[in-house]
Amino acid sequence: EAKYEDLLAEQELAAAKQLPSALIIGVKKGGTRALLEFLRLHPDVKAAGSEVHFFDHHYSKGFHWYRRRMPLTLQGQITMEKTPSYFVTAEAPRRVQHMNPGVKLVVVVRDPVTRAISDYTQVKSKRSDMPRFEDMAFVNGSRVVDTTWAPLRIGVYAKHLERWLNYFPLSQLLFVSGERLIADPALEITRVQDFLGIKRLVSERHFYFNSTKGFPCVFRSEEHTTPHCLGKNKGRNHPFIDPSAIQRLRDFYRPFNRRFYQLTGIDFGWP
Ligand code: A3P
Repeated sequence: EAKYEDLLAEQELAAAKQLPSALIIGVKKGGTRALLEFLRLHPDVKAAGSEVHFFDHHYSKGFHWYRRRMPLTLQGQITMEKTPSYFVTAEAPRRVQHMNPGVKLVVVVRDPVTRAISDYTQVKSKRSDMPRFEDMAFVNGSRVVDTTWAPLRIGVYAKHLERWLNYFPLSQLLFVSGERLIADPALEITRVQDFLGIKRLVSERHFYFNSTKGFPCVFRSEEHTTPHCLGKNKGRNHPFIDPSAIQRLRDFYRPFNRRFYQLTGIDFGWP
């Protein structure tokens, strides 16, 4: 008869690090941290804690280096990683395909205008001398949108997606609505669990709306004893932006958003 200690030792022996079989590839400020934290409530999901940046910054270090950064997993557990810059890195689709052509790819998307303001707000929080958003968004005070400015470039989702679709079939990508991840986290997390092929164990019961935080937060245990919200750097207040600047950006993104809806087959309903 096997002793408990023996079983435990056996299990530890079986635990090993694997390359990820699913990645959250973007988008920055889409709600990627929230999605990963929600998924980590699932016993079959093991994820690297911080962004590994393998397919953009550290690719030359090789797959051994990458695997060492992964958590230990048992048979049947999924290894995941999220680095939002992958979505906009030109070389990433080819490199990811090289690792595993069957990898599952999750993209959290959000209205590109609010995403840009969120991105700007994050940069500004680290720099006191940051010019106004309106002065960064347009070329020399004109009405021409500065698409070389990263906070705006990242939001042209259709362009970035087209690069991924050169290497992966649409069926290997799942698009999560960043807006719905806030309004109805249980619904979006169900879609993700189905996509990953894992049981629907993270559900309604794990979420509650924290009115102080203004966002959904989670219970980490079944007993609802340990409530947990994301940190202060998630869910920042955005500065006031001139409505005419917002309007111009909406006009700029409209055709790209339409194209993105076409490519994905999903109408995200951005204004
Ligand atoms: P803001 O800080 O602009 O509100 P990322 O993790 O990809 O950087 O995305 C950050 C964004 O996640 C936040 O942007 C916030 O709107 C969004 N978010 C989604 N669900 C959240 C949650 N449960 N708690 C906090 N922020 C959440």
